[in-house]
Amino acid sequence: MSTLLIIFFVFFPIFLLLTRKRRSSKRLPPGSLGVPIIGQSLGLLRAMRANTAEKWIEQRIRKYGPVSKLSLFGKPTVFIYGQAANKLVFTADSSAIANQQTKSVRMILGDRCLLELAGQDHKRVRDALLSFLKPETLKKYVGKIDGEIREHLELHWHGKEQVTVFPVNLPFTRYNRSLKASARVQNMVKDLIQEKRKKLDQKTASPHQDLITCLLSIRDENGEEVITEKEIVHNVMLVMVAGYDTSSVLITFLIRLLANDPAVYAAVLEEQGEIAKDKSMGEFLTWEDLIKMKYTWRVAMETLRMIPPIFGGFRNTLKDIEYGGYLIPKGWQNHRNLIRIDKNQASTPPYCYIPFGAGYRICPGYEFARIETLLAIHRLVTQFTWKVQYSDNSFSRDPMPVPTKGLPIQIVSKKLQ
Ligand code: HEM
Repeated sequence: MSTLLIIFFVFFPIFLLLTRKRRSSKRLPPGSLGVPIIGQSLGLLRAMRANTAEKWIEQRIRKYGPVSKLSLFGKPTVFIYGQAANKLVFTADSSAIANQQTKSVRMILGDRCLLELAGQDHKRVRDALLSFLKPETLKKYVGKIDGEIREHLELHWHGKEQVTVFPVNLPFTRYNRSLKASARVQNMVKDLIQEKRKKLDQKTASPHQDLITCLLSIRDENGEEVITEKEIVHNVMLVMVAGYDTSSVLITFLIRLLANDPAVYAAVLEEQGEIAKDKSMGEFLTWEDLIKMKYTWRVAMETLRMIPPIFGGFRNTLKDIEYGGYLIPKGWQNHRNLIRIDKNQASTPPYCYIPFGAGYRICPGYEFARIETLLAIHRLVTQFTWKVQYSDNSFSRDPMPVPTKGLPIQIVSKKLQ
């Protein structure tokens, strides 16, 4: 059995290192902070774009071991690596390690989105989002999502010989445009809130009919709304952003994997064909159909193992932490990162395979991502065969992974069911 390879790294910027002179520098991890302000940022960004970030990490670990200091994006940082590091980050009490976004993310998504909240506030808003994103609620939307996918394929795939799968760049990709787009979308969401609140008051809407209505419907024992309007706006923004790139990246790389691996394509097609053969023309897929798509989901999980969409995030220590024989002082920030495990490992040890994160911040969109991915793959394999135009399998991270040349594919429609 091959060796388990875990690459999951965590950075802690070291703000307090410069001010807390009483601390012994001997207890700080090895490594260099590099050139002031720039530090190692350019090297990491270059490696991400060139798809050599894993090599960059491996070299760092070879040089300094699993805990080291560096400087990233203007901030002194500590890098930690491995299963124990993951466990530390995902299980630490929220009073010890908190989520931390960059200012630019905060400006776009808003300061009341889940990523910014901690403790009871995080739990309250997260529970509210989950009351919509839980399987019992999402079950009702399987047919609707299936309908959207079929319509998309009808409009953009059928009748074409070539499509480019590469995810569309939303205006969120460039900062200035992003801020303007964010303001516009926030205003649209506010209008929707008014509209849906009115319908709820008139009793012409049901609480679980959509995310906004669901969040508006959650009341405390006094009948007061539990989630503020600002929280609804910021979290609707978050769900749109967190749920768009991640799933589209997964589906993109799945399409590439299926094109490159005929045996896997055949096995996926067999599973999906079994489901399709019991359906009448135009019939939507159901939750029960999704449960049967076990092999297809395993292929999706393998795709996430090879190319996880989320490369990292920032966390902040709210207390001094001892880790690996070193001190990570209060006020430092960490950056989580990608994980790779060997596919031949019989079972996956805890905190090793974590494309959706773990602990109390584990991705609440898991079920939604599963539904849209399986539905999309069902419709694709039962309606098309495809070939990738370039054999180049590289990708770059910006910060999401994208195939280096986009993913133009040649498609042939099968007879429509
Ligand atoms: C393949 C698809 C997806 C992947 C790989 C993914 C992965 C992740 C990861 C790694 C995290 C971070 C967990 C942490 O900070 O510890 C996260 C958080 C989050 N994801 Fe996803 N995600 C996906 C799809 C979605 C979808 C479809 C939605 C919404 C419908 C969504 C909504 C969120 C939200 C709101 C958070 C913040 C959770 C919190 O801070 O408590 N994600 N996701």
